[in-house]
Amino acid sequence: MCLPEHLGIIMDGNGRWAKRKRLPRKVGHTAGANNFRRIVKHCSKIGIKYLTVFAFSTENWKRPKEEVVHLMELFKQYLEEALKDFQDENIKIAFLGERKVLSDDLQNLIEETERVSANCDGMVLNIAMNYGSRNEIVEAAISLIEDVLEKKINICDIDAEALSQRLYTKFCPDPDLIVRTGGEFRISNFLLWQSAYAEYAVVDILWPDLKPDNLDAILLEFSKRKRRFGGI
Ligand code: IPE
Ligand code: IPE
Ligand code: MG
Repeated sequence: MCLPEHLGIIMDGNGRWAKRKRLPRKVGHTAGANNFRRIVKHCSKIGIKYLTVFAFSTENWKRPKEEVVHLMELFKQYLEEALKDFQDENIKIAFLGERKVLSDDLQNLIEETERVSANCDGMVLNIAMNYGSRNEIVEAAISLIEDVLEKKINICDIDAEALSQRLYTKFCPDPDLIVRTGGEFRISNFLLWQSAYAEYAVVDILWPDLKPDNLDAILLEFSKRKRRFGGI
């Protein structure tokens, strides 16, 4: 079976999962965090080379403060656990997104996680946290303009590849497949530039309920698609 080299996942549906069980939304986020660990391990086991997961968007700050605080706490707790866990699995972790606005604790943990896993040579796990694709593209454009003004590059050096090299994802190939759980047919500001030729799969399963078998079925369906990249 032909696996995507780079798989992106929009982990959506924690809130609805909790609502269906008449539980507070934060219980859904905890269930989602547990599933995150399970699916990451599965992806590593089956041989995915790059996995990018959408954990928190630049728009998610609009949520009630209590929910945001809970999510930040969860990230801290899970990063600490993931540090040990994923190291055993030889997983290299990178964070995509604007980290300056996160708490000092979280920033330190992010740096430590990246440092400790830097020499792992198994799957690369990108965690998109406070990530928004439009901001990412704007920042890349600003950085190109600055380099032109400082005469480090010429305007004719600017092309799609030059911009790609200034995105958070500069070290990995474009995603081949983006899976969204929770049934919504939208991108919600995730990897807009990078997904120009990605395949999409939307599943009507809420994130905490997505099982490794469900993912395998999506990957099997992906392997049968014919990608043309504009050719025939
Ligand atoms: C995804 O689940 C997790 C985050 C966005 C942090 P949601 O919290 O968006 O769950 P729904 O979409 O409300 O069910
Ligand atoms: C996308 O889900 C972001 C994450 C999964 C982290 P949202 O729940 O924020 O997306 P919308 O609001 O339904 O578009
Ligand atoms: Mg949602």
